[in-house]
Amino acid sequence: MSSYAIERLSADHDRAAFTSGLDSVDRYLRETARGHSEKGVSITRVLVGIDAAPPKPILGFFTLSPILIEAKPWPKAPKGLPNQPVPAILLGRLAVAATHQGKGLGAMLVATACQIATETITLAGGIGLVVDAAHPQAASFYASFGFKAVSPGGLRMFLPAKSLKTGVEIRRE
Ligand SMILES: CC(C)(COP(=O)(O)OP(=O)(O)OC[C@H]1O[C@@H](n2cnc3c(N)ncnc32)[C@H](O)[C@@H]1OP(=O)(O)O)[C@@H](O)C(=O)NCCC(=O)NCCS
Repeated sequence: MSSYAIERLSADHDRAAFTSGLDSVDRYLRETARGHSEKGVSITRVLVGIDAAPPKPILGFFTLSPILIEAKPWPKAPKGLPNQPVPAILLGRLAVAATHQGKGLGAMLVATACQIATETITLAGGIGLVVDAAHPQAASFYASFGFKAVSPGGLRMFLPAKSLKTGVEIRRE
């Protein structure tokens, strides 16, 4: 079985070669993700082979950031939320390299994002993990992990903090 590591995106990673098949996320990784990480806008983590040497091929990635949301009417939101935006974690982007899709790596990235969101929420608060699915098929992918649609088009989805614990442990920074 292959072994993987999750690392914070850095100059060691080969961003230029990453292709998931969804141009908007590929461009985000190539052009924006490092700048956003350096400025504190969001943090991107990449999945690499455990023995990879720089420039390390990126097998997948995801991006997390804090978000304020009006979640009171959402299904699965905690009861009795205040009438104002409340904090949550946003899973802004997630993708797996086209050559590695269908092998469980997307599920591994979602599990790791849930694990990091749980730690962040435990330390600083937050009602759960929000995701903006890029298209209806991506929404089906997130639904398979328990995310529920909370927007009219069904692309904004939510997993409450109490459902985030997946028990999956993988090595990361
Ligand atoms: C969507 C994506 C991340 C899935 O990654 P993956 O590594 O191929 O998925 P996995 O192999 O981990 O599959 C995990 C589960 O999700 C299901 N799944 C995978 N892709 C799916 C899809 N498009 N629709 C519905 N379910 C899907 C799998 O069947 C699997 O379920 P199972 O465990 O019951 O068999 C990947 O296809 C991708 O990067 N696509 C292009 C970028 C993209 O669309 N990203 C979403 C942006 S929000």
